[in-house]
Amino acid sequence: MANEKNADKLEKIVSWAKRRGFVMPGSEIYGGLSGIYDFGPYGVALKNNIKKLWWKKFVENRDDIVGMESAILMNRKVWQASGHEKGFVDELVECRKCHQRFKTDDLPKGENPKSEILNPKQITNSKSQTGKCPNGGEHEFTESKKFNPMFETHVGVIPDETSKTYLRPETAQGMFTDFKQVMEVSRKKVPFGIAQIGKSFRNEINTKDFLFRVREFEIAEIEYFVKPGDDEKAFDEWLKNWEDFVLSLGIKKENIKNYEHPKEGLSHYSQRTVDIQYNYPFGYKELTGLANRTDFDLKAHQEASGKDLSYFDPSTSSGQVSEKYIPYVIEPTLGIERLMLAIICDAFEEVTGGRTVDSHPEEPQGDEGSEVVLHLDPSIAPVKVAVLPLVKKLSDKAQEIYKDLKTCWGEIEFDESGSIGRRYRRQDEIGTPYCITIDFEEDNKVTVRDRDTMKQERVEIKELKNYLFGKLGSF
Ligand code: GAP
Repeated sequence: MANEKNADKLEKIVSWAKRRGFVMPGSEIYGGLSGIYDFGPYGVALKNNIKKLWWKKFVENRDDIVGMESAILMNRKVWQASGHEKGFVDELVECRKCHQRFKTDDLPKGENPKSEILNPKQITNSKSQTGKCPNGGEHEFTESKKFNPMFETHVGVIPDETSKTYLRPETAQGMFTDFKQVMEVSRKKVPFGIAQIGKSFRNEINTKDFLFRVREFEIAEIEYFVKPGDDEKAFDEWLKNWEDFVLSLGIKKENIKNYEHPKEGLSHYSQRTVDIQYNYPFGYKELTGLANRTDFDLKAHQEASGKDLSYFDPSTSSGQVSEKYIPYVIEPTLGIERLMLAIICDAFEEVTGGRTVDSHPEEPQGDEGSEVVLHLDPSIAPVKVAVLPLVKKLSDKAQEIYKDLKTCWGEIEFDESGSIGRRYRRQDEIGTPYCITIDFEEDNKVTVRDRDTMKQERVEIKELKNYLFGKLGSF
């Protein structure tokens, strides 16, 4: 029953996201492309706000981290040295009856004998999302096959082995190959970090669950270089930083938990990995990850390229002897789409019974159907304030206020069409924290309505900006 309710919630979110222009299937007029989404006006605004806050917190506000942007296409040798060409593999099984494909990692834990024929009973008896075979009975799986999810492409006009490379599956490698140069130009000393946000591509086996597993997505990640031996302490600090960031965006603490990867399940580069999982409608799943990549990547690139990627530690002032070493790397990583989905799931509320009835004293109307309220943290809301003249006759006065507010916050919307109740409802649905209604009263005041409490306050027009600064801060 609870599962049905959760599946229902995800379905509602998918349809709301499309209806309100947050997230739409990519190239939909041609039937779409599986695992590929476009972000409409509100979706891209939400995404950009998340990215801006991340960049501010981890790059602008810190002296020990610098930003960079590496290219999506890199020399194929990068992917050979990093181990991705050989070691970045997913395993898939196919049901002989319905021909659906599943990633073996998605099958229940402890019941996942890789490279063996899976016992379908083990799968259907568990809480796996694989469920029963639509062609009747239980799935009958083939033996698992290895599959490299990197998208191949060619650079140059002749598509042969020499021109082959891949769309990057992670942003990290650019930060390793450019490590030395970035450190030198920014005059940083270990410990320091390089941060990057960028597109990554994975040809995922299974792309259900909306934004959770897509084929084109953005990763925000940091490679934090430390002296070997200082890595465990840095790991704990980064776990705390990462959790604080997720919570600062309004996600409820009770909906996240940490998952420590067992040693035998670690990626080829990692000595320790902890995920922060979010309680998505389809269960607790990885939202972000934190890995101790040791000196694996820098060593591998040093060996393969022949370039010295070691660090000369000049710290002799405190009596220590200077030394040369390859730094260890702590890597906090975060998928922007997965974070967006978690934020939306956390903020999404469906209210039945006419929340916007009697929504403004001068126009007591609204309807009784169900409505969506998106309780987004104001810092990431795509629209911060909506300006609503009660009737069109008041539009000139409302436009003046709108234009004035727009000089302080870009994300202001003007809406004069439809009943005031309907307009409040439209703003609630996209998560606008404050609506300002301009009415006929001659007291030089406007009504400010709070999305969550629905409380309405009369505020002097000349005090309006100060009032909103108090609520929203400056952006
Ligand atoms: N550089 C390390 C790395 O790429 P990862 O756990 O494979 O680690 C990083 O991916 C993050 O990217 C994950 O924590 C997750 O949030 C997100 N992610 C991974 N695959 C994804 C996919 N197919 N769709 C959406 N987000 C994905």
